[in-house]
Amino acid sequence: MRIFVTGASGFIGKSVTKELLGAGHTVLGLARSDEAAAALTALGADVKRGSLYDLNALKQGAAASDGVIHLAFVHDFADFAQSCQTDQEAIRAMGDVLAGSSRPLIITSATMVLPHGRVGTEDDSYDPLWPKSAARGQSETLAKSLASEGIRTAVMRLAPVSHGDGDHMFMPALIATAREKGASAYVGDGLNRWPAVHYLDTAVAYRLALEKARPGSVFHVVAEDVRMKDIAAVIGEKLSLPVESKSKEEAQAHFGPFLGPLVSVDNPTSNRKTREVLDWHLRERTLLADLRDGKYFEA
Ligand SMILES: NC(=O)c1ccc[n+]([C@@H]2O[C@H](COP(=O)([O-])OP(=O)(O)OC[C@H]3O[C@@H](n4cnc5c(N)ncnc54)[C@H](OP(=O)(O)O)[C@@H]3O)[C@@H](O)[C@H]2O)c1
Repeated sequence: MRIFVTGASGFIGKSVTKELLGAGHTVLGLARSDEAAAALTALGADVKRGSLYDLNALKQGAAASDGVIHLAFVHDFADFAQSCQTDQEAIRAMGDVLAGSSRPLIITSATMVLPHGRVGTEDDSYDPLWPKSAARGQSETLAKSLASEGIRTAVMRLAPVSHGDGDHMFMPALIATAREKGASAYVGDGLNRWPAVHYLDTAVAYRLALEKARPGSVFHVVAEDVRMKDIAAVIGEKLSLPVESKSKEEAQAHFGPFLGPLVSVDNPTSNRKTREVLDWHLRERTLLADLRDGKYFEA
């Protein structure tokens, strides 16, 4: 299949692009800069120039393809509601082109949208009471409604930690915070869980969803749930820093506005249905092994 991939130049997008090409698909990747276009060409993908704000470019990319994987996202955490609005407008535009075609439209969400404190399954809806969940969850609602317009939609709920070489999200942020504050911290008893998955396993899940998903599917791109205390312990060990518990109030000052509201979240997430439906087999190393033996602490 020829697949239009938005966010193809990103951390996960590049691995998805390589996975698709390796499986015999061709890729048309969205690029908003010369740098992104060159990176995609080097991977062997074709380039569609444009941005998430250029709905015509998105429509043209979708029209020229047998399916879409939508990974691009404006990571503006200061105006997250607007980022989610942009996401919905992009999905709607590509959906307009794909309607009635039975072609796949694979969109990206996050396990963090689920209600916290209990194991979330693929059948659960996002938590409408948590503003960030409700904002990103609207894209899930949109994907489900597009399934009834003759599009083979699937929602990929990603673990907050997609780890591996090139990870630029929460693990590097936790490591930088520990370095800056001179301590590796967790909140309370630190038994709260974050889902994690290696980014190469993530890429396989996207390809399988593209090839197999039934309309309106939801998948959990999760390999394991990891306790925050265990993550803090490995970071402390690697940096030779003390490992400390913080109260929720202290955590705001220690972790700052980006990580502060998230470090105490308990987000255990089941992947049972995803593994069964997609026949997805996890092959890569665990998060703690990656922290110990990967490149996270290289200069
Ligand atoms: N990484 C994780 O652990 C994680 C966890 C949960 C969910 N997710 C979700 O997974 C998806 C991919 O994440 P990632 O880690 O690969 O992110 P990333 O490395 O920051 O890549 C983001 C991609 O989106 C593109 N993009 C951003 N703004 C754009 C715009 N206005 N127009 C066109 N393209 C734009 C970027 O293009 P440029 O190359 O030009 O910047 C890049 O290709 C996102 O939806 C993210 O929210 C990721």
